[in-house]
Amino acid sequence: MSRDVPEGSKKLTYKGYLFHVFPEVYEPSDDTFLMGGCLEVKEGSRVLDLGTGCGILGILAAERAERVIGIDLNPHAVRCAKANAKTNGVEGKMDLVLGDLFQPLKPDEKFDLILFNPPYLPTPEREGKRSWLEKAWSGGPSGRRVIDRFLFEAPRHLKEGGIILLLQSSLSSAKKTLRVLEKAGLKPKVVNKIIFPFETIFLLRATKTAERTKEAYRRQKNPTLFA
Ligand SMILES: C[S@@+](CC[C@H](N)C(=O)[O-])C[C@H]1O[C@@H](n2cnc3c(N)ncnc32)[C@H](O)[C@@H]1O
Repeated sequence: MSRDVPEGSKKLTYKGYLFHVFPEVYEPSDDTFLMGGCLEVKEGSRVLDLGTGCGILGILAAERAERVIGIDLNPHAVRCAKANAKTNGVEGKMDLVLGDLFQPLKPDEKFDLILFNPPYLPTPEREGKRSWLEKAWSGGPSGRRVIDRFLFEAPRHLKEGGIILLLQSSLSSAKKTLRVLEKAGLKPKVVNKIIFPFETIFLLRATKTAERTKEAYRRQKNPTLFA
């Protein structure tokens, strides 16, 4: 095992890439592969991979992107993503940064594509600290704690014509997410899903068009006009 990869790491291959998943890092799962299978990255684009985990989605995007920024609040994930970027020869195209959602970015920094597989499962409040792995899937009592913060900030980091790809569970109201994205002036739709007996996982795609952005701006200026 290389010096960069700790004991107890798992190994997986996907689309011809090799990934090591460090012990305290989210192991790519059905949701990851749902997004990975639908990833369309324009040549030369700027991509933001939020909650990068082992870096899998950002690394796939780096094949065609000009630059990929990966952010995670788990320091093990940032180290793991860096090691995987190196293994797959894309470390020169990627910045992997420790931080909370958009906090490491400049306020006006914009992307062609924003990817986020967020913590989306409803989990009861409890005393004490959550482990790094729990923080990867725990979305608080409504499941929306991180998603709602993401939705509030994401549109301003998107270029005109830019796209958000977001994973969401039926357990934390994908419908609400679609509504919020509409209100923010984006054009959202469900592009794929996996149906389980107890939940459905949706892949949402939202596009920022000039027309929609103007409409949302006018609505803000005159709330009664579009009520
Ligand atoms: C479900 S995992 C997805 C990991 C990887 N993108 C994938 O699809 O396999 C969610 C990731 O988001 C990170 N995360 C959770 N809350 C975050 C926040 N507020 N800011 C940045 N990253 C966060 C977690 O540490 C975890 O790595």
